[in-house]
Amino acid sequence: MKSALDPVKPRCAVFGICGGCSRQHFAGDAQLHEKQTRLQRQLREIAGIEPECYELLPPVRGPQWNYRRKARLAVRFVRRKGGVLVGFREQRGGFVTDMNACEVLAPGLAELIRPLRVLLGSMRAREYIPQIEAAVGEAADRPFHPEAALVLRHLRPLEHDDLNRLAAFAALWNLQMYLQPAGADSVHRLYPRHGPERLHFHLSGFGLRLAFHPMDFLQVNAAVNRLAVKRVIDLLQLESGDRVLDLFCGIGNFSLPVATRCAEVIGIEGSDEMVARARENARANGLENTRFVSADLYRWNTGAQWAAQVYTKVLLDPPRGGALETIPLIAAGGARRLVYLSCNPESLARDARELRRRHYHLKSAGVMDMFPHTSHIESVAMFERSNGPPSAQK
Ligand SMILES: C[S@@+](CC[C@H](N)C(=O)[O-])C[C@H]1O[C@@H](n2cnc3c(N)ncnc32)[C@H](O)[C@@H]1O
Repeated sequence: MKSALDPVKPRCAVFGICGGCSRQHFAGDAQLHEKQTRLQRQLREIAGIEPECYELLPPVRGPQWNYRRKARLAVRFVRRKGGVLVGFREQRGGFVTDMNACEVLAPGLAELIRPLRVLLGSMRAREYIPQIEAAVGEAADRPFHPEAALVLRHLRPLEHDDLNRLAAFAALWNLQMYLQPAGADSVHRLYPRHGPERLHFHLSGFGLRLAFHPMDFLQVNAAVNRLAVKRVIDLLQLESGDRVLDLFCGIGNFSLPVATRCAEVIGIEGSDEMVARARENARANGLENTRFVSADLYRWNTGAQWAAQVYTKVLLDPPRGGALETIPLIAAGGARRLVYLSCNPESLARDARELRRRHYHLKSAGVMDMFPHTSHIESVAMFERSNGPPSAQK
């Protein structure tokens, strides 16, 4: 891996303006090296863990382009530009980037930017549509064949003409079109009118197919996600008798593959909708050794039934804020091994310091190239409990 940030020619015409990417001018190897260095620095400076104390894992990496299967696109009618802009916000100023294509959106979404500009520009409500949530899955019976969904936020009711235009667009591009007139719970599907409101992806290697709603959390990069699942399974060193606690489990992206290799998985997640999806996914894949519970993991869950149980292994995949509040529970549950996925090295390092205080020592860590061409660092770390005295629960 190269150590210098070697400059390369950015591929995208709007690189430097668009806020979707910030690093196209460095080679992929150099970007990963820089992310690895930043991860190690945070672990040293915040947690006091020197690089010699743990193994540096080889980076998990996937394709550099057309990887992004979930995105929030901003929309803006700009009269002086003669129509509607659809894209990521600019790096500075918050305006919508004037773009017609995107090098990082996944197939199924990348080709929609220009047609969406034309469609939205033709609508009566064009000044009242601020954003589109876009997601792409894989056709139910054809892994890797894209099947997209768009969720259109609109600030006033849409007239029949506009609804017809949207439905015709969805039919033409073979995608699902949803409307969002108010908050997240107002989302409903316009097209098609029948069938489950779901997209899917496959976890090949585990024989699993997961369903999700376009508003669900989804690991952005399908290829890196598949490799991340494999890395997590390897790091957990699962045995048939293991009981695994999966905290921040979402729709069961890690819980289900883990469940194929151990006795039982208990998944905990804050969103009731995603808990329902995780159960649905377990049922659809014939996995009876899973249980999913809804809980706010940023509160102390000491009284919860699931928290009072004993687990042999724990998996943690929190949002940016980290998982400090869960550490007393993990320590009290007595798990021997903990795998921590993180989208923020700062909170990971803070939590690593607290874990060490409770006899969990960092054994290995590495970066995952979930968001190439951005400064975002996704990482994985494995901790093992030493034979110190069991930690008391707060
Ligand atoms: C980084 S995602 C990981 C999801 C899942 N592990 C996956 O791979 O798809 C973090 C998850 O934490 C959930 N979450 C956010 N805040 C939470 C909270 N306070 N309590 C429990 N879960 C929360 C989100 O809904 C999301 O599903």
